[in-house]
Amino acid sequence: MATNLNHQWMPFTDNREFQRAPQLFVRAEGVRYWNAEGRELLDGSSGLFCSAAGHGRTEIAEAVCKQLLTLDFTPHFQRASPLSFELAERLSELLPAGLNKLFFTNSGSESVDSAMKIALAYHRARGEAQRTRFVSREWAYHGVNFGGVALSGMMRNRQAFATGGLPHVSHMRHTWQEDQRYQLGEPQQGADLASDLERIIAMHGGDSIAACFVEPIAGSIGVYVPPAGYLKRLRDICDKHGILLVFDEVITGFGRTGQAFAAQSFDVKPDLITLAKALTNGAIPMGAVAIDEGVYDTVINASKGGGPELFHGYTYSGHPVACAAALASLDIYRDEDVFGKGAQLAPYFLESLSGLKGLAQVSDLRGYGLLSGIQLTPGETPGAKGARVQRALYDAGLHVKTTGDAIIFAPALVTGRADLDAMFGLLKDTLSREAL
Ligand SMILES: Cc1ncc(COP(=O)(O)O)c(C=O)c1O
Repeated sequence: MATNLNHQWMPFTDNREFQRAPQLFVRAEGVRYWNAEGRELLDGSSGLFCSAAGHGRTEIAEAVCKQLLTLDFTPHFQRASPLSFELAERLSELLPAGLNKLFFTNSGSESVDSAMKIALAYHRARGEAQRTRFVSREWAYHGVNFGGVALSGMMRNRQAFATGGLPHVSHMRHTWQEDQRYQLGEPQQGADLASDLERIIAMHGGDSIAACFVEPIAGSIGVYVPPAGYLKRLRDICDKHGILLVFDEVITGFGRTGQAFAAQSFDVKPDLITLAKALTNGAIPMGAVAIDEGVYDTVINASKGGGPELFHGYTYSGHPVACAAALASLDIYRDEDVFGKGAQLAPYFLESLSGLKGLAQVSDLRGYGLLSGIQLTPGETPGAKGARVQRALYDAGLHVKTTGDAIIFAPALVTGRADLDAMFGLLKDTLSREAL
């Protein structure tokens, strides 16, 4: 029976184009999808940067099934399942030392808005409730809720929603500069752009700023790696002015950059980290905010007791089935050394990536770990080329996420070399075409 496509409004999708030429996936296993026509596609974007250990993991499916039959739901206001505490403990073992308090959400967007609220609550608890300003960056993507949209620096995501949500947000400049073109890894130029934070402090006063949010690697805009030393400079400036530093690791978390978190790869410890995506290997929606214990203690200890210390939470915070999926994912990551596998594959991945230089459709390459951005030569309008290339790659047998005129190529951390070579082969064939 043909699927009736008339009743769903799809997210971040050209709905009319989708109706004309649907891309329906019906099965996934390892680093492959199968579409409704029975064709096989290699997965070049880990789904949507979620499925670090590949698709169709039976360990996760079994854990989910068992959990559904044991305890399908528990409210997390004043009650909990032990699983959420077990998961919090397991995550704190992976996170940078000190970030050992976990607040559970259902998505990256919710993690970002939760982190914003936690930052405000922290300063209020310290007697600095005047710190209501947030700093983020041009080109940033921090999800789609109103807090995250206000932080966001992607024009199309803000424009339709007029105000961007919150009035007191300042944006630092993005970190890309012409002399970084085709530099893989950390660009050597541009760390001084961190001084934009000092300019914002000079304009508004350091004591008006609650937190500075950055994606350690700007992902959704097309993968921009921070210049060497940039994140450390931000950390130093935040420390000097009592500003919380928040890393949005919704994409970079769980081994994508070679270590568990980009905070560890870049050796900079933020005060909060937002997580989602690979937390459950993509199997069940879940997100989290990792919080430095000092921040947590400040909020908890400032409360007089007798009620919640933080008036915030979700019906599905710490959902037992999501926890079961996350715990099973963390078991796979540990038992199969998934992050180590990703780290081992990264040099070969980046070397193969550099082989795309000079192809007709390529104008820049960026990458770190197993996360890369392939910038296309511009089309007639922004995004038009990206949409065509996405379709051409789909038709050729490669699923990738495109954003504007960039491809975000980020295969699963467990991808074998033969599959990786096949993915690069498809990219090469398509991106060599003069007319696209
Ligand atoms: C850095 C970052 N933050 C937040 C989000 C939003 O996550 P979600 O789509 O799960 O709400 C994303 C999604 O790509 C992201 O890349």
